[in-house]
Amino acid sequence: MNKLHIEGDKKLNGTVLISGAKNAALPILFMTILTKKNIELSNVPKLTDIGIAIKLLKSLGAKIINKNKILYIDPSEINTFCPPYNLVKKIRASIWMLSPLLTRFGKAKIFFPGGCKIGCRPINLHLNGLKELGAKIIKENNYIIASIQEPLRGKYIYIEKISVGATITIMSAATLAKGLTIIENAAKEPEIIDVANFLNTLGAKITGAGSNKIYIEGVFKLNGGYHKIIPDRIETGTFLVAAAISQGLIICHNTEPKHLISVLKKLSESGANITIGKDWIKLNMQKKTPQAVNISTSPYPGFPTDMQPQFALLNSIAKGKSIVVENIFENRFNYAQELIKMGAKIKIKNNYIICTGVPRLFSKNIFSTDLRGSATLILAGCIAKGITVVNNIHHFQRGYELFPSKLNKLGANIQCI
Ligand code: UD1
Repeated sequence: MNKLHIEGDKKLNGTVLISGAKNAALPILFMTILTKKNIELSNVPKLTDIGIAIKLLKSLGAKIINKNKILYIDPSEINTFCPPYNLVKKIRASIWMLSPLLTRFGKAKIFFPGGCKIGCRPINLHLNGLKELGAKIIKENNYIIASIQEPLRGKYIYIEKISVGATITIMSAATLAKGLTIIENAAKEPEIIDVANFLNTLGAKITGAGSNKIYIEGVFKLNGGYHKIIPDRIETGTFLVAAAISQGLIICHNTEPKHLISVLKKLSESGANITIGKDWIKLNMQKKTPQAVNISTSPYPGFPTDMQPQFALLNSIAKGKSIVVENIFENRFNYAQELIKMGAKIKIKNNYIICTGVPRLFSKNIFSTDLRGSATLILAGCIAKGITVVNNIHHFQRGYELFPSKLNKLGANIQCI
């Protein structure tokens, strides 16, 4: 499957079940390297990135059984500190293997990680954090080699820039370090809380996750346990935008409304009628054209960069003019060129775009370039006039479980070619 044919002009209505969060499942999978006891993980989404993470763990020696989205992981026989580079380079998340491998073996050697081309995405903050805890790090032929002579030592660490990835790396490294680590200026994303909850289930002593100061009292070893992955807030937000741009009504079930406050605020500003329950969100935009909304991305609880492309699409067909500012990644407007081909009026500047809403988009042969951009172009195809062909669809498969079939159940007509 390499292309989607999408018949447009559809209103998307109905209910959708939200999958587990990719960005929580990935680090949690790699954190299983920290223990030798059995782990059970439920609500694990079926995605290509998760498939690669599972292959990586198996390549290290872990035994994994995958039954109905529950993973049974036996990490007791993990026996190497150097995962294969051809898998590592496929996903950015493989950087999260560095600290658990280092903790387990006293040494770790991993290839520089890959991931979406949305910016230069350095890993200096991960490496600086590990150095502060006592690791020696060298870079050699595109490999990072980390080593320790004695166990890592807890420390006060101020992360100079808010980073989800670096917060998780340091938090995991500190879990089995000697003494207390304090992470200041930590990222506050729900996925970080989920990783902390998982590690605490195994016996870690982490408090403060979800705030900008995390305390980790090192423990001697971790046990096994069961953990359920939190719902995917970005998948939820993407389906809510699907309703908003198609004058539809969608109810997302199995989600966590509290994780989407900034997104719901903007959707409501655009004119959507939103109701929420304990684990569901209903968005009604029937018979209404959305109003354009200004967006400026920032770390959680600010507006998520992973929802920026979807809102640019909303603004492209909304009433009025808007500005979308990207403050996290340097190169996150590639999808906008494709929307322009479809008739969107978007001016791309440095780290912002100016959108002037048009009444409708027109089908074209378009190319997706990254995960969230790809989901956005698929949604654009659902509302455009005519048949849109979306190429390079491996991007959406990295992060959206059964996206075409979930959309088809809501009234879309998408065929995988
Ligand atoms: C994670 C998410 C991604 C999301 C992003 C921001 C995963 C697998 N990916 O990415 O979907 O868009 O958070 O919410 O969970 N930075 C540095 N040095 C570093 C690390 C990061 O300068 O060592 C910079 C980045 O270039 C970026 C900013 O810090 O400008 C934030 O990046 P970070 O929060 O680390 O994003 P990721 O963890 O890569």
